[in-house]
Amino acid sequence: MRKIAAGVIGFLFLFLSARALFAAPPVVSPGEPWLDNRGLRIQAHSVGITLWKGVYYWFGEDRSQSNDPAKRYVACYSSTDLAHWTFRRQVLALADPEHLGPRWVLERPKVFANPRTGKFVLYAHLDDADYKVARVAVAVSDRIDGEYRYLKSFRPLNEESRDIGQFVDDDGSAYLIFESRPTGGFFIASLSGDYLNVEKQVSFLHAPLEGGALVHYKGLYYVVGSHLSGWAPNPNVYATAPSLSGPWTEFKNIAPPEANTYGSQSSMLLKIVGSKKTTVLFMGDLWRPEQLWDSRYLWMPLEIGSGALRLPAPQPCELNVKTGETALIAKPAVK
Ligand code: GAL
Repeated sequence: MRKIAAGVIGFLFLFLSARALFAAPPVVSPGEPWLDNRGLRIQAHSVGITLWKGVYYWFGEDRSQSNDPAKRYVACYSSTDLAHWTFRRQVLALADPEHLGPRWVLERPKVFANPRTGKFVLYAHLDDADYKVARVAVAVSDRIDGEYRYLKSFRPLNEESRDIGQFVDDDGSAYLIFESRPTGGFFIASLSGDYLNVEKQVSFLHAPLEGGALVHYKGLYYVVGSHLSGWAPNPNVYATAPSLSGPWTEFKNIAPPEANTYGSQSSMLLKIVGSKKTTVLFMGDLWRPEQLWDSRYLWMPLEIGSGALRLPAPQPCELNVKTGETALIAKPAVK
């Protein structure tokens, strides 16, 4: 009996080591179709990432062709290495909640995990077909990958709000960054204790930008945004400040302007604090407006520090979330 048990354990050990050895390395490949554990294309556009109990959760717009055209969907995937993603569920499958009419809009979903209430709070941009409503939608769940219950919509700080971004600072404080067309800029605002409201204006950056994303890296705040050109790419820009409330520098290009952000639009900046290195990933969308379901993703480690930020030309990249190290994988030279 003992011999059999030892044999089984030995086999399991060999099996697991072989699996670890031959498991696909954690590589992200900008622009390539990205498949989940089911072999289906990841449908999570306008990425929002929530790190919860050591697991990354990716939320985004689910634009699957099989979706009911009257509803709007948010999908959730999980991963421990940022490269291999397991489909959890469509956490939101919402019918027009505010009588916004045909072609109503629910975009840029972001989920905040509230350590005080234990609830998960989803924010998204809610609008009608003409983008005239300009509100945020709020939905909640008891589980990060559970079904989210629509709660309400409102205009944060009573301002028009279109593209939104999420930011959680090193001290755990949660902020919404939102674009306001009439005032021509980004608001950065803190959330209330229960995260169900947008409470206090922290900063206003007077620059007509959208796709706002923030990161706190080595004592400086970096904000990235894109110009207002709809689905069409444009040269995304960044500014920095010693504090979230500013003063903010002028905006500068994150890549050569003629590259148009390599066809992408900013959505999120993710800081990976590893044992050897802290890396910041630029996460953007490569939109295909005629077939949004086929839109791709551009994730790349940024060159960042001392007030400078640069998005390198897209290239497949191996990520190590444990050490924080990244390695660009040289593409074979074209003959
Ligand atoms: C972009 C925006 C997207 C979507 C699109 C519609 O500027 O970032 O989230 O709203 O416009 O044209």
